[in-house]
Amino acid sequence: MEDNSHTSRRDFLTQSAKVAAIAGLVSRQGFSAEKCEHEKLEVVAGPTPKPIRPDQTIGLGIVGAGVRTGSLLGHILGQKNMVIKAVADPHEGNRNGLLNKLKKANIPTPDVYTGSEDYRDKLLARDDIQVVFLATPCYTHGKMYLDCFAAGKHFYGEKPMCIRVDEANALVEAQKKNPKVIAQIGFQRRASERYNKGIQAIRDGAIGKPLAGRAQWAMGRTYGLPSQGTRVWMGRARLSGDWMLEQACHTWDVLCWVAGEKTPVAISGMGNREVFKHMDPERDVTDYYIANLEFPDGLLVNYEHIWFVPPRDERRWSGVYERFAGLDGGIALDEGKIFPRNKKKKPVDLGGPSGGGQNAESMKAFFNCLRSGTKPPSGVENGRRATLTGLLVRKAVYEKRRVTMKELLG
Ligand SMILES: NC(=O)c1ccc[n+]([C@@H]2O[C@H](COP(=O)([O-])OP(=O)(O)OC[C@H]3O[C@@H](n4cnc5c(N)ncnc54)[C@H](O)[C@@H]3O)[C@@H](O)[C@H]2O)c1
Repeated sequence: MEDNSHTSRRDFLTQSAKVAAIAGLVSRQGFSAEKCEHEKLEVVAGPTPKPIRPDQTIGLGIVGAGVRTGSLLGHILGQKNMVIKAVADPHEGNRNGLLNKLKKANIPTPDVYTGSEDYRDKLLARDDIQVVFLATPCYTHGKMYLDCFAAGKHFYGEKPMCIRVDEANALVEAQKKNPKVIAQIGFQRRASERYNKGIQAIRDGAIGKPLAGRAQWAMGRTYGLPSQGTRVWMGRARLSGDWMLEQACHTWDVLCWVAGEKTPVAISGMGNREVFKHMDPERDVTDYYIANLEFPDGLLVNYEHIWFVPPRDERRWSGVYERFAGLDGGIALDEGKIFPRNKKKKPVDLGGPSGGGQNAESMKAFFNCLRSGTKPPSGVENGRRATLTGLLVRKAVYEKRRVTMKELLG
């Protein structure tokens, strides 16, 4: 596990220079946060994509060649009858890193686009690309995913779906206008056998009515530090949406799923944005916060997000989980375990792959949906609910008070 506490002043100054260079890159290339914030969103219906035959060779375009694309690459390459036609990313280092990985895997070198709007003007414009995989900073998602709908391309777009209410609404509208586009939002838990069985068990009454939830994202390392290359955007609330959007969106998606595909009605919270300031004065994300979420039908959830759990974690601070209790028992969705209150009944192990294996399940589900023309396990509707929940948690934490969904949507 990474230790963040040893950054020297010299490292810090070098890192600051790198951050400035990356910030310059973002604004120089015309796809700046400002542009994403102020540009009016347009929902263009776009051409209806042709159905993909079960044995057809799919032409794939990749947008964003960073860490996430690298970690999903094996699962992407594992799909049959698929050719990577093009890669778009303005960052030379990440681009070359991805091209090298493809070369090592004996994959023919795809076409390469280097401008920040090339993903749209060049990659999405190609007739031989039917499907796009996108893993770029959160502030770009809303616009890029709308562009996919407008180009009539199927896509797997990383989470969060977007970081603004109007983007979330526009994407739901775009899907309605172009219903044949298969748009899977990267919430891999939605494709997981373990989570699906757990949710079904809740619906079947395994724990009774879910009344109490406990969830956390707790680790002893953090992301978005200037030493972490392009990923410095994660340490900038404007670019990432803050952790309530960037990271905890996975948790909100699960909570809304458990609550019967409903968003919370109100949330209270508080947090600390100063935690890693000594390592990066520009950092403004909330590296520690707690929130209480009130769902309709009485479900209350207690959540903690922390990036500095102590080392040598004998007291079990760390972990990412979602747990629920009702009058008939409890369920740990992340572990796939049900604990009935009736002691005569044994705990149930739901099986299915854990964490990393869920990425494989998600990618496989996407390609199956493409070939069968069926609805993906995670789409724009649950993507919108997770975004709205994240925005409401952020509002509660920033304003240190109880805020309602009505206020957010006001
Ligand atoms: N589902 C998951 O579990 C999971 C895990 C990690 C990351 N993610 C998500 O994946 C996304 C990417 O994260 P990452 O860790 O790969 O970040 P990263 O910084 O490593 O990579 C992002 C890449 O996008 C590129 N990019 C930026 N603007 C672009 C543009 N206009 N056109 C093309 N490329 C552009 C950057 O140059 C960079 O190479 C984020 O949304 C993140 O939240 C999801």
